[in-house]
Amino acid sequence: MALGSNGQRRRIAVTGGSGKLGRVVVRHLADRGDEVVSLDRTPDPDWDGAFVRVDLTDYGQVAEVLTGIDDRYDRIDAVVHLAAIPAPGLIPNAATFANNITSSFHVYQAAKLANITKIVWASSETVLGLPFDTPPDYLPVDEDVHRPESTYSLVKHLEETMAVQFCRWNPELSMIGLRFSNVMVPADYAGFEDFQDDPTVRKWNYWSYIDARDGAAAVACALDHDQPGADVFVIANPDSVMRTPTAELLAQVAPDVPLRRELGEHEPGLDSTKARTVLGWTPQHSWRDHV
Ligand SMILES: NC(=O)c1ccc[n+]([C@@H]2O[C@H](COP(=O)([O-])OP(=O)(O)OC[C@H]3O[C@@H](n4cnc5c(N)ncnc54)[C@H](O)[C@@H]3O)[C@@H](O)[C@H]2O)c1
Repeated sequence: MALGSNGQRRRIAVTGGSGKLGRVVVRHLADRGDEVVSLDRTPDPDWDGAFVRVDLTDYGQVAEVLTGIDDRYDRIDAVVHLAAIPAPGLIPNAATFANNITSSFHVYQAAKLANITKIVWASSETVLGLPFDTPPDYLPVDEDVHRPESTYSLVKHLEETMAVQFCRWNPELSMIGLRFSNVMVPADYAGFEDFQDDPTVRKWNYWSYIDARDGAAAVACALDHDQPGADVFVIANPDSVMRTPTAELLAQVAPDVPLRRELGEHEPGLDSTKARTVLGWTPQHSWRDHV
């Protein structure tokens, strides 16, 4: 656990703290000793830590929650920004665009106002070219790929671009974008049986997923990573959602996509090597232990 600038426990604001991933992140950070403030427009009835209801599309509210709220808290040391409409097609495209890009700009801008120099935020596997109707240039796909194919993904791509410029403006700022794969909690694993007979069912992300607990651990590693500047990391578990070996799956559905390197027996098509080597992230959970 890192300490804040005043030598006390680091206080971390988590936007989207009531969401599927955010619920696991706030608990993971609190369990390791960080002081956590969850920021969301919807409360999580099971979270008994600090919570402030906020609409991130309203800049005044964001500026206030990141600079301090009356007698609740007077500073934030780092921001984990997860709040978003979390997938394409849930609401109309323009509404996804407006909510997500506005919220992210407000968080980045208010963090600047509050002199916060550490932001970890949720990008997405979708910027890698999902659903791969156009095959990737190579597999496994990694951080060098920027191919948004939906409005949702376009926003994540624009946020990655915005982060580069915010970091250029402030050389002390660290902004780490985590390109999460499809977030899963243990209750989801029973449904993995439905994938097994057909390699095309999960071809849209080349059989990848991220266990929310490992996603939360990646957030913690990114918070502890001191390097200033903007960077992105693919966050996917190193095992696929399939029992069939990856080589067989690829032979069936993507025989013509060049392989950059040999894949492990059950390695998915998303490459999280960079997160493991640079951030020291060690995913520990597998759906195979739950079925
Ligand atoms: N779920 C996935 O498979 C997946 C995959 C890759 C990336 N991501 C990204 O991870 C992040 C978290 O995803 P999730 O699955 O937990 O989503 P979720 O929908 O479960 O949680 C998102 C939370 O953000 C809040 N929120 C959205 N807009 C807000 C606003 N304007 N003001 C205040 N709160 C707002 C919602 O109330 C919700 O609690 C998102 O940025 C998403 O794009 C998710």
